[in-house]
Amino acid sequence: GKHQLLSVDQFTRESVEDLFRIADQMQPIARRQKVSRVLEGAVLGNLFFEASTRTRVSFGAAFCRLGGSVCDTTGFTFSSMAKGESIYDTSRVMSGYVDAMVIRHPEKGSVAEFAQATNIPVVNGGDGPGEHPSQALLDLYTILTEFSRLGKLLDGAHIALVGDLKYGRTVHSLIKLLALYRGLKFTLIAPHGLEMPEYILEETGKHGHTIIQSSSLEEGLVGADVIYATRVQKERFAAEELEGYTPDFQVNKAIIDKCCGPDVIVMHPLPRDSREGAHDLSVDLNHDTRLAIFRQTDNGIPVRMAIFAVLLGVEGLVQHSLRDVTW
Ligand code: CP
Repeated sequence: GKHQLLSVDQFTRESVEDLFRIADQMQPIARRQKVSRVLEGAVLGNLFFEASTRTRVSFGAAFCRLGGSVCDTTGFTFSSMAKGESIYDTSRVMSGYVDAMVIRHPEKGSVAEFAQATNIPVVNGGDGPGEHPSQALLDLYTILTEFSRLGKLLDGAHIALVGDLKYGRTVHSLIKLLALYRGLKFTLIAPHGLEMPEYILEETGKHGHTIIQSSSLEEGLVGADVIYATRVQKERFAAEELEGYTPDFQVNKAIIDKCCGPDVIVMHPLPRDSREGAHDLSVDLNHDTRLAIFRQTDNGIPVRMAIFAVLLGVEGLVQHSLRDVTW
């Protein structure tokens, strides 16, 4: 069969946890204590038709740290799609050049279209407002790691998702992945017009979780174990839709001190918007241990290494491939 990562729908709780065991084996490489060359000679094509720092660079770095090399193309302007080339032709051509592709594209379903045209592994690095499965995987890995440190279980936990739940693809993937666990309470806190799409609520509801929708941050955060803030995806909709989004939706120190216990974990897929008028996540938590955002970004490397190891079938070689760092 074809090896692809297009949607979190392809996972079971068991297969996610298998992937995370491989990610754990990658940690000594991610922490620069060991090196591995299991992907020596392999070439990754990183095709990004939308802005990215984390996904593009961490997928590239993960491939390189396993001994592979990366070819990058960024933006429509620097690909022949600017000359009208189709997704089908682009994918067929790239298949002759590289051994795996990571693709980010502004249209939902576009990465699946790339995957249909090739037999090499394809990874969805974000398809418009669709999904961002590798982000959700690293987020879940982070939650499980943090809970393990705190002696908590994910089953039965209270997860608050905040902000632009309509266009934020990371929360679409994350809520479906979390739904593989048992008895979760989700509070979905969004301004009017930016609520979680109905089809995702239906799917999550099927698994017997409690879902509470709220337009009040203060009400929704009470007792949360995890707060997952998101950036408003202004690039995806007209400014009028933003009317209900006010500074009241900002996650900051005052509100978490008021609503949550000392063990709450504050997450965000990043980037957070630091411009005037944006208020997704305050910088006043920067030195607060409850803020897990940079532990999330660090976890992007071992999780993405694990994804490549599985897609390229070398996961069984990793353990014995580790050598000491010589630099
Ligand atoms: N979280 C995330 O996808 O970040 P980038 O857009 O920088 O890749």
